[in-house]
Amino acid sequence: MFKFILPVLLLIASCLDSAASQTRRFPDDFRWGVGSSSYQIEGGWNADGKGESIWDFLTHNYPEKIADKLNGDISADSYHQWKRDVQMVKELHAGTYRFSLSWTRIMPGGYKNNVSTAGIEYYSNLIDELLRYNITPMVTIYHWDMPQRLQELGGWTNPEIIPVFKDYARLVLEMFGDRVKTWTTINEPLHVCECGYGLDYMAPSYNYPGIPSYLCGHNVLKAHAEVVHMYRELFQSQQGGRIGITMDTSWMEPKDVTSTEDREASERALQFYLGWFAHPIFSKEGNYPKVMIERIRNLSKEQGFGDRSRLPEFTAEEIQRIRGTADFFGINSYTTKLVYSNGHNNTGKFPVPSFNHDMGAVETQKGVDWPSSGSSWLKVYPRGMYNLLMWIHREYNPPRILVTENGVSDRGGLEDYARVDYYNLYLSAVLDAIEDGVNVKGYMAWSLMDSYEWKVGFSEKFGLYHVDFNSPNRTRTPKVSALVMAQIYKTNTIDWSYRPKLNEEQLVALAQLSTENQQPKTSGASGAVSWSLTGLLLLALLR
Ligand code: NOJ
Repeated sequence: MFKFILPVLLLIASCLDSAASQTRRFPDDFRWGVGSSSYQIEGGWNADGKGESIWDFLTHNYPEKIADKLNGDISADSYHQWKRDVQMVKELHAGTYRFSLSWTRIMPGGYKNNVSTAGIEYYSNLIDELLRYNITPMVTIYHWDMPQRLQELGGWTNPEIIPVFKDYARLVLEMFGDRVKTWTTINEPLHVCECGYGLDYMAPSYNYPGIPSYLCGHNVLKAHAEVVHMYRELFQSQQGGRIGITMDTSWMEPKDVTSTEDREASERALQFYLGWFAHPIFSKEGNYPKVMIERIRNLSKEQGFGDRSRLPEFTAEEIQRIRGTADFFGINSYTTKLVYSNGHNNTGKFPVPSFNHDMGAVETQKGVDWPSSGSSWLKVYPRGMYNLLMWIHREYNPPRILVTENGVSDRGGLEDYARVDYYNLYLSAVLDAIEDGVNVKGYMAWSLMDSYEWKVGFSEKFGLYHVDFNSPNRTRTPKVSALVMAQIYKTNTIDWSYRPKLNEEQLVALAQLSTENQQPKTSGASGAVSWSLTGLLLLALLR
C-alpha cells in the first residue's frame, strides 16, 4: 500500500514545487489591458443632461429586482474620478484600457438630433488623459445601456434600431476616431439578447422566451455589420484602427466525455451560445450555425408556428454583408459548465418555446469540485479557457483573438489571494493555447475596480482595485491582485512565487475597512473565498 502512496505523494509534491517556482513568459508583443463599462462605474446618471438608459429605468422603477436594491446612480463615480482611473491603469502597467461609452450621455434621447457637448467632452478628456500616459484606449460602443426612449420602441427587437445605432456610432467614430484605434461595436450580444429579452436577467427584463431574443440577435448582427462597413468606408484608412465585436460563452464541457450524446450536447451548446453571433461573422460560409437553423425551424413547425421559423432568415445578400465584419475576435469567458442532452425527446427542463429548449442541452455545475467564487455561476476551471480558445481556433481560425474579459469575483477584501490564483491559472491556460498555435494577441482583466455588477448590485466584486462606496470620492485602493497583475503586465511573465504582502497604503485602507461598514447599506455577506492550495493543485494536475 505504502509502496503505491509514496510515489503519488512525491509526484504531487514535485508538481506543486515546479508549479510554484515556475515562471512562464508571454510573447513580447502581447497586449495587456484592463476593463470597465459605463453604467457599472460612471455614476452621474443624470449629470449635465444625460438621458435615461434602460438600467437607470430598471433600477429606479424595479429596485426589488436587484439583489441589494441599489443602483448605479453614483457607483464608483468615474464621471468625476476618471483621472484616478487612468492613474490606476498606469499603476497596473496595462497598455490598454477597455471602457464603454454611455449612449445617453452622448445622445440623451438616443437620436442624433440632440448631442450633449458635456458627454463628448467627458470621453474626449478621458481619451486624452490615457494617451498622455501612453495607454491605448479600446472603446466599446455599446455595453448594455440602451436609451430608454429607444427601448420604448422595442430596443434591439425593432429593425429601426439599425440606422439609429449607426448614427450614434458615426458620431463617436467622428469625434474620437482620431485617437481611438481599437473599437468594439457591441459587448456580449448573447447577454444583450437572451438575458435581456428571453429571460428576466438583464435590462430590459422582457422575460419572453423563444421569440424576441432571436429578433434582437438579428438586428444586433445587422447593426454591427453596418457600423463596421461604415468604419471601413469612411474612417479606417485615414484613422488606421481596428474594429470588432466581443462575444461571450462559458466553456461547455461534456458531462461525460465518453458519451456521444453529451459530446453532441456540448457542441450544440457552443454553437448556440457562441456560434449564434460568431458563425455569421467569422465562418467561411456565414449565416447562423446550421444546427440552430435546422433545430429552430423544425421546432417552430412542431410548435404550430408554420413555415416561419422563430429564428429570422438572412437573405443571401445579408449573409455576405455580415460575413467578415471584424478585424479581431473578442471573447469574454469566466467559467465552465457541464453539459448533457435535454432527454431523448427534448422535454422536461425548459419552457417551450425557449432558447434553451431550442438548444436541447442542459448545463450544470453540480458535483464538480472546482473552487467557487463570489458569484454562484462562476467556478474555477482554467482548462475550460484552454479548451474554448482551441475550439474557436479550430472553428474559425481567426488571425487575432483578444480575450476581452476574464476575471473572478469575491465578496470583498484587499487580500484577494484567490483572485491572484485565478489569474495565474487562467493566464497559464491562455499561454498553453498560444503555445499550441492559437492566435491570442491580448488579454484584458475584468475589472479595473469594484463596480455595479448588474442584477447583483454591489454584492459581487470583480475589481483589481477596491472602491470605498461609502466615501465621498469613492476612494480606490489596490488589492493584492493589482500588485500581481502589475508585475505580470510589466514583465510579460507569470511568476507563481510572487505573492506580495499588502503595502503601506493597503494596510491603512485595510485598517479602515475593518472599522467601517464597507458594504453599501443593504448589501449581503462578505468574506473572500480562499482556495490557494486547491488552485495550485489544480494547475499541477491539469498541466
Ligand atoms: C461580462 C460583462 O461584460 C460585464 O459587464 C460583467 O461585469 C462581467 N461579465 C462579470 O459578470
